[in-house]
Order: sequence, then C-alpha cells, then structure tokens
Amino acid sequence: MRNIAVVGVGYVGLVTGTCFADLGNKVVALDISEEKIEKLQQGIMPIYEPGLAEVVKRNVEAGRLTFTTNYTETLKDAEFVFICVGTPSGVDGEADLQYVRQAAETIAQEMDHELIIINKSTVPVGTGDWVAEIIHDAQPKPIPFSVVSCPEFLREGSALQDFMNPDRTVLGSLNVEAADKVAQLHLPLRAPIIVTDLRTAEMIKYASNAFLATKISFINEIANICEALGADVKEVAIGMGVDKRIGPRFLDAGVGFGGSCFPKDVLALKHMATVQGKHPQLLEAVMDINYYQRKQVVLKIRELLGEDLSGKTIGLLGLAFKPNTDDMRDAPSIVVTELLIEAGAKVKGYDPVSMDVARRVIRGITFCKDPYEVAQDADVLVIMTEWNEFKQLDMIRVNKLMNQPIIIDGRNIYDPEIMTEQGFMYRGFGRGYNGRTLDD
Ligand code: UGA
Repeated sequence: MRNIAVVGVGYVGLVTGTCFADLGNKVVALDISEEKIEKLQQGIMPIYEPGLAEVVKRNVEAGRLTFTTNYTETLKDAEFVFICVGTPSGVDGEADLQYVRQAAETIAQEMDHELIIINKSTVPVGTGDWVAEIIHDAQPKPIPFSVVSCPEFLREGSALQDFMNPDRTVLGSLNVEAADKVAQLHLPLRAPIIVTDLRTAEMIKYASNAFLATKISFINEIANICEALGADVKEVAIGMGVDKRIGPRFLDAGVGFGGSCFPKDVLALKHMATVQGKHPQLLEAVMDINYYQRKQVVLKIRELLGEDLSGKTIGLLGLAFKPNTDDMRDAPSIVVTELLIEAGAKVKGYDPVSMDVARRVIRGITFCKDPYEVAQDADVLVIMTEWNEFKQLDMIRVNKLMNQPIIIDGRNIYDPEIMTEQGFMYRGFGRGYNGRTLDD
C-alpha cells in the first residue's frame, strides 16, 4: 500500500486514481472544481465510462479513495503526486499549459516533505523540465522532489481495462531512483516497463498517438482509392492486418478520428516541429485527410440527392466521437452537421449516451428519442458512430419510415450486399465502387 495523490479528476485522473486505489493503494484525488468533487462524493461520475462508477464506489467504501478540493489534505501523506490536469489546444495547436503550471505551483507551495511528482497529462516535450523549474522556484523553502513522466495510453470507453492491462508502462526521469519507485507502483500490472529520460518519455506519447492517427488516415486514403478502383477496404485491411509488421488494429476506414486526443496531439506535435524549423508534412497530411473524410459525408449525399440539399432531411445515427463514451470533443458529427446545415439541409440525430452533451455542443439539430425517429421521413441516414445498437436495427422498419431508403455508412458497419438486398441505396467508405457491386 502506497499513498498516492492525484491532481485533476478529469478522464485520466479519475481513472488513474480509481485504478491505483483498486490495486490496494490509498488515493486522495483533488480537483479545483468544487462541483465535480461534490458530485463525486455523492457517487455521481463527471464522465460516462463503462464500469467506472462501480469501481469508484467500491474503493470509496473501502476507504482507499477520497475526493477533495484541499491541497493540504491531498499532499499530507502522499509519496507520489500524479498531475492529471487538462492540456487543451491553444492557438496553432500549441498545448495550453496553464493548468499544469497552476498545479505545479500549488504543489510547490503546499508540500512539506519529499515528493515524487508524476506528469500524466499529455504535455509538450520539455514540460517535465519546465515543471521541475516551476516547483523549484515556487517552493517557499527547498524540499527535495523529483519529476517523472508517465504518459497515459487509455482509450475512452475501455479506460479501466486499458489501465489494468497495459501494453507497456513508459517512465521518463533524470532521477533513476524516482523512476524505479514509480515502476514499483506499476509492477502489479505485469506489463513491460520502459525507463528513459523525461523528454523521450514525453515524445513516446505523442509519437504513439500520431502513429495511430496516421494509420487511420492511411487506411482512409486507401479507402478512397479502393472506392475509385472497385476494391473493398474492409477486406484490404484484413489482408494487410495479418502481416505482423502491420497488425489489424486501427485500420477501420470511415469518417475518421475525433476525440480529445488524436486531433489535439497531432496538432501539438506539428506545432512543436514547426517551432523547431522542421516541416511535418506527414502530420499535415494526416489532418487534411481526416477533415476530408468528414466532408465526404456531404459529398456522398450530394452525389445521390443532387447539389441542392435545401429542404432535405438527413438523419445522423451516433453523435459521440466513438462508441462507449458520451464525449463529443471534436466529434465528426459536429462538422458534418455544420456542413449540412450550411447546405440548407435539416438534420436530425440520436446517440445512445451523448444526447445531453450533444445538446450543448451541436446547434441546429433536432434530437430524436431513438434510431427509428431519426429514420422517420429522412432522405438519408448516416452512421456516424458504430454503437452496437445500430448494428442490428429492424431495417425493414427503417426502410419503410424513410422518405428515401439511402444509407451512408460512415463506419462501414453494414454489409453492402445485404443492405442492397433490403432495398437500400447503400454507400460505405471504400466498399468497392462506392458501395455498388460491379453489376449495378
Ligand atoms: C487515444 C489512444 O488510443 C489512447 O492510447 C490514448 O491514451 C488516448 O488517445 C489519449 O491520448 O488520451 P481515444 O481518443 O480514447 O484514445 O480513442 P481511440 O479508440 O484511440 O479512437 C480515436 C478516434 O479514432 C475515434 O474517433 C475512432 O472512431 C477513430 N478510429 C479508431 C478510426 O476512425 N478508425 C480506427 O481504426 C480506430
């Protein structure tokens, strides 16, 4: 049992603190938002993450996990402090580090014994050194401390599982002893531990996210070529993926990546490179292709309904940036809705979980209670998020309800042939001649 403090109970902090508590440690989790802490104390989660509420409850009841807004209480017994505050995108994609600075300064002012301070927020390369400087300068009297970078690799929607079964733990520090102590904390996870210097650890995080984003934009580019040449990208991905050097994951073509991580991290890495006088052409292409995928929804609709979309009704199934989350940050559905409204169309939408969040971030859309209400009188139905509940819809009913039975499958969840047999005009992304078979 170790004493751990977590600063920032957003996505990363809440999952990290909860999981360390579940491993038997004593965790105090702090946030400056009183509202968030009060809700957590009542068992109300600030985010939707499958399984999280139960694990939080279990650990709060066992006395291993507490929530507070008070720094003194948080740091009192702590040996390790995880900084997990947000690093939103600022101007030009540059990461905004105001919350990291604030956390580092307050820790420096409040600490009264030696601490290992661990950066888990995704921060630009060099931030670890900067945090060490801030703490050094802000301490009222010198107390020893070390800074370790321990980037997170949690996917929203499967964060608990990712935490407990990581592919690796990456630790970066100039202080080998501190890195070793943080490594001990991670031993129960039984994953390879890579110990390196601070800047390299920070870079591993950006390079990993940028690589996965590149893999997605790559398969989307291949999908666009498949479409023109009559090949099926889903089968191409399977054929590529069995090659162990390539691997099958992150080769799903469609409307592209969104969320709080890939777009922000690719832009931040691009910004870091540009500042250093480098030309990050590949990263630029990754972002361009990703935007084009969103635009393609409208291009595909225009190809079927004609240029003028005024008065047409388009239904969106799925609004969150991916399934099993209510997160709408940089969700493709936002841009697609904007483009459709700009083109004069009426937009209806439904998401199994993110409706409340969506109401706050998407304007001009009519929210529906289920997929069938979306289908009612729609000219086109677009699959934006591959929620399980969309995979087995009553397609005969959907067909009857629609004004015209047209489906744009932005996540390639349906079989083009079956959809055509059921009377739909079907367009996927990269499914051979735009979803048509050669005989059409
Ligand atoms: C991502 C990384 O996968 C995590 O390892 C990392 O820790 C996290 O960012 C972060 O930096 O915090 P996340 O954004 O939660 O996690 O979600 P992913 O499952 O990676 O999906 C990202 C986006 O890519 C989604 O919009 C998804 O729909 C899209 N995607 C994913 C595709 O379009 N195709 C694919 O084949 C895979």
